[in-house]
Amino acid sequence: MFSQSRFLLLLLLFYVSDCVQQEGRRFDASLLEQDSNYEIYHSYRNAASLYWNPQTLEYIIIRDGQVWLEGGPFFIHFNYTFYSSAPEQESLKMLPLQLIDQYQSNGTDTFFGPFLKLSLRWSSTLSPYYFIWETSFKIFQEQSIILFEQYFPIDLFGVELGNKRDTFKHVSSAFPRFKVSLNDSDNYLIDTLGHFTFLDTWDLNMRGVGLKNVFTGGLYSGNPLLLYNLQQLDQSIVLSSLNNFMSNFQTRSPSLQYHFACGLQGRVRQVEQSFSLATLLLISQPNEGINRIMNKWGKYMLQYYGKQHVKDEGNHQNDFFMSKLGYYTDTGSYYWYNTEPDLNYEETFIKLKQYHVAQQIPIQYYELDSYWYYKENNYTGEHGGILWYEPRPDVFPSGIEQLRMNTLQTPLIVHHKYYSYDNLYQIFYRFLNGSDYKVSLPLDQTFFNKILSQIKQWGVEIMIQDWLSSIYEDMPEASWDTYTAREYHLHLAGGAKQAGIKLLYCMPLIPDIMETLENSQVKYIRISNDYSTDINQWDIGRASIVTWALGIIPFKDTFWTMSMQPQSPYGKFIEPNVELNALIALMSLGGVAISDKIGNTNSTVVNRLCRSDGVLFRPRKPATSMDSTFFGVGGPDGELWHTYGSDLQQTYFVEYVMATNLTQSYEFAWNELLNTVDEDTPRRTISDVYIVFSLNNLTDYYWITSTNPFTFLIPSCPQNLTTYYSPFHLFVFVPAQKESKWILFGELAKQLPITQQRFSSVQFSSRPADSLQVDVIGIDGEEVLVTVGFSSQVLGRIDIITVQCSFRTMQPTTIMTMSCNVSNGCQCQ
Ligand SMILES: *[C@@H]1O[C@H](CO)[C@@H](O)[C@H](O)[C@H]1NC(C)=O
Ligand SMILES: *[C@@H]1O[C@H](CO)[C@@H](O)[C@H](O)[C@H]1NC(C)=O
Ligand SMILES: *[C@@H]1O[C@H](CO)[C@@H](O)[C@H](O)[C@H]1NC(C)=O
Ligand SMILES: *[C@@H]1O[C@H](CO)[C@@H](O)[C@H](O)[C@H]1NC(C)=O
Ligand SMILES: *[C@@H]1O[C@H](CO)[C@@H](O)[C@H](O)[C@H]1NC(C)=O
Ligand SMILES: *[C@@H]1O[C@H](CO)[C@@H](O)[C@H](O)[C@H]1NC(C)=O
Ligand SMILES: *[C@@H]1O[C@H](CO)[C@@H](O)[C@H](O)[C@H]1NC(C)=O
Ligand SMILES: *[C@@H]1O[C@H](CO)[C@@H](O)[C@H](O)[C@H]1NC(C)=O
Ligand SMILES: *[C@@H]1O[C@H](CO)[C@@H](O)[C@H](O)[C@H]1NC(C)=O
Ligand SMILES: *[C@@H]1O[C@H](CO)[C@@H](O)[C@H](O)[C@H]1NC(C)=O
Repeated sequence: MFSQSRFLLLLLLFYVSDCVQQEGRRFDASLLEQDSNYEIYHSYRNAASLYWNPQTLEYIIIRDGQVWLEGGPFFIHFNYTFYSSAPEQESLKMLPLQLIDQYQSNGTDTFFGPFLKLSLRWSSTLSPYYFIWETSFKIFQEQSIILFEQYFPIDLFGVELGNKRDTFKHVSSAFPRFKVSLNDSDNYLIDTLGHFTFLDTWDLNMRGVGLKNVFTGGLYSGNPLLLYNLQQLDQSIVLSSLNNFMSNFQTRSPSLQYHFACGLQGRVRQVEQSFSLATLLLISQPNEGINRIMNKWGKYMLQYYGKQHVKDEGNHQNDFFMSKLGYYTDTGSYYWYNTEPDLNYEETFIKLKQYHVAQQIPIQYYELDSYWYYKENNYTGEHGGILWYEPRPDVFPSGIEQLRMNTLQTPLIVHHKYYSYDNLYQIFYRFLNGSDYKVSLPLDQTFFNKILSQIKQWGVEIMIQDWLSSIYEDMPEASWDTYTAREYHLHLAGGAKQAGIKLLYCMPLIPDIMETLENSQVKYIRISNDYSTDINQWDIGRASIVTWALGIIPFKDTFWTMSMQPQSPYGKFIEPNVELNALIALMSLGGVAISDKIGNTNSTVVNRLCRSDGVLFRPRKPATSMDSTFFGVGGPDGELWHTYGSDLQQTYFVEYVMATNLTQSYEFAWNELLNTVDEDTPRRTISDVYIVFSLNNLTDYYWITSTNPFTFLIPSCPQNLTTYYSPFHLFVFVPAQKESKWILFGELAKQLPITQQRFSSVQFSSRPADSLQVDVIGIDGEEVLVTVGFSSQVLGRIDIITVQCSFRTMQPTTIMTMSCNVSNGCQCQ
């Protein structure tokens, strides 16, 4: 297998990497082009090319004239034996994997269109008849996609590499596999690229340079993995599993010299004939920055699985979790395993509801956490799986259905975890007991149907599937084959679908997040750590990019509206960032769910988030980290997030930019907004002229235009690393009109001043006179102060006017019309 041309190539690469270092042109691909040993396959619009050397069996991915990815040897482990296409390059002793056939063909994929396929067939013996594995490259002709596929033509046994949690860091088959340097050296371009991916599940930083020492294995890292040019953000690739997510991992496998490897997770014991694994490589086109390429990736994934993005569900604005204020009792909440003194939960909820009604805190749903059902050994604390999924009489003596009907009178969200090995359902349904005596996995679809139908009957609309991580972390058996863990998700999907229940995934591992593509009922993921245990768990701007791309609403978890809650179960925990948490929850589109003690909710905080009927003032998409925050140098030093809002008719769009934890001030330029253009909202365009202001001080406004190079300075706002107080700025960009000198600033008393929940339409007109007409939505008793401006010229001084709309009507919601013209000023009627 060791041919002369390989030797020459290595010399060549060595030469290239050695001599060009000073000139910064390492990894130059032009030398490879002259190497006639390579077959070259160009992807769509030449965005990237695959170089294949049929003699040395090496593959390389070139983008922008550079070797972005250098393939490592083909590798598979079965019959307790390691096989490699280049054993001499491996650190472990391996037997040779023999190439027995290599051929090209053409085909068409239902989703991705026509492709050219290069197939390689492998044998573990010299016999060409012992075909054990096929690997293929599919180069698509009409999409910037290359697929890497593994196909298993026969049953394989003895595949596993161990049976510990650490074994998940290994793969038993590797294709594709890309070389990554170890430790200090930087031998490959990949070592110098930016990455954006999960690095340690709920660690929300998610970015850095190179892949050295960052991957903690496929349970916790990767998928999707974005690699990008730190200076040129639209030069990137996304690598992700495309199928069999529960077994198809990305890792840096210790048995493969910590190369980045995609393949079968190391605990799988056997593979059935006809099993396959696919990895997608998506290559960005010019102007596809970080947010845009991730959305494109998500769109392909959703299309492939026929799953609808939540934004495309016609009635998603009616979803109570997205549209209304709620109350939570999960970890971090005041009433998590904690009731009012001498009261049980039912009595505590009665008092809580009375408080909310009396104080006009418009809670529109309640969450009941894991304290209400029977757990392992009949234990009443938080630990242990489900023994019996019924309300305990010491918690809810009248049951959950009665609690909803008589007391709460809102839809409910309930908690659900894994089942204990002593659960009481095993007499009636099939279960798989975990050998660590912790988790017992229900195997029957009918069981899931029963559980989900039962809670629907109680008035539950959303079920939290929590502790997803425990299936792989605490139950070895679920990882031994390629279908048990996947079927768990499919059973949840089936049960939820037939009962009409939506699912909120909680504590997911990386495979669980990807697996939501096969579960149409997962609408929300709590993407952060628990509220109380991690004071910075609000930092979801990057995780929200991935979640939203997958068609799911990111949820930041509950928050307190007052920093201190008397006798809280979390000891000295003080919330330093009440308003920041509230704003982030509001901007996430996920639940805005408070969790204060009775008597301890700050109504000022709540009233800034929603109308008096509990309808939240929402942007049109979750706020995400702006592209510029991904730059190697020159971007903001901290968090800069963006989202946008509009009136209901979608004629008037405003941009929201939030900055926090900026260690340096940052000059924001108009053209950054261009990176936020998406296909979701065709009616939104970036205006040539904006007036930018911070909610705290409207008189401190800036004009920002496409033509003048004027930038505005976002002041630094570093987090205090002792108290974790993180000051923030929310900037609102309102567009100036060509046809009118009027400007609508919105309702400045609210956290987001212009949203479709307050403004149903906005019209500017120049004839017969320059005027503004705004339809304002309100609730009986609300006093809505609408602020408008008038400026005779762009960049000029703005006169600011505030108009009061007083809603006095018996109807639940009404519309008042605010009109402004030059002769009469503004009125609201
Ligand atoms: C598995 O390995 C044993 C020796 O360890 C060998 O005798 C046997 O032929 C191998 N089986 C396969 C299917 O390769
Ligand atoms: C595949 O299609 C291309 C162009 O469409 C053609 O040039 C090539 O010969 C085909 N290859 C095979 C193996 O059919
Ligand atoms: C080098 O990297 C490997 C793999 O990430 C790691 O296990 C090892 O501790 C590192 N060694 C040093 C000296 O940093
Ligand atoms: C479980 O606990 C409840 C309430 O504490 C008690 O009524 C019941 O008898 C217990 N069941 C068992 C099997 O111990
Ligand atoms: C699981 O373990 C429990 C406790 O040992 C036992 O009662 C139960 O029958 C087991 N269930 C199955 C499906 O093996
Ligand atoms: C805030 O910025 C500091 C300094 O860059 C960083 O160490 C810290 O992790 C950041 N915290 C959050 C919550 O982003
Ligand atoms: C309630 O919130 C407002 C706005 O953040 C704040 O000014 C006020 O001090 C808070 N009140 C209490 C009692 O914490
Ligand atoms: C608001 O901004 C104006 C203009 O920059 C400034 O003069 C004024 O002091 C600011 N007011 C407050 C309360 O910060
Ligand atoms: C952080 O907060 C503490 C307590 O309020 C204060 O003493 C300290 O000066 C603050 N640090 C910075 C850098 O502002
Ligand atoms: C200005 O507005 C008032 C009240 O809305 C209206 O009566 C009047 O006709 C308007 N004037 C013009 C010139 O449009």
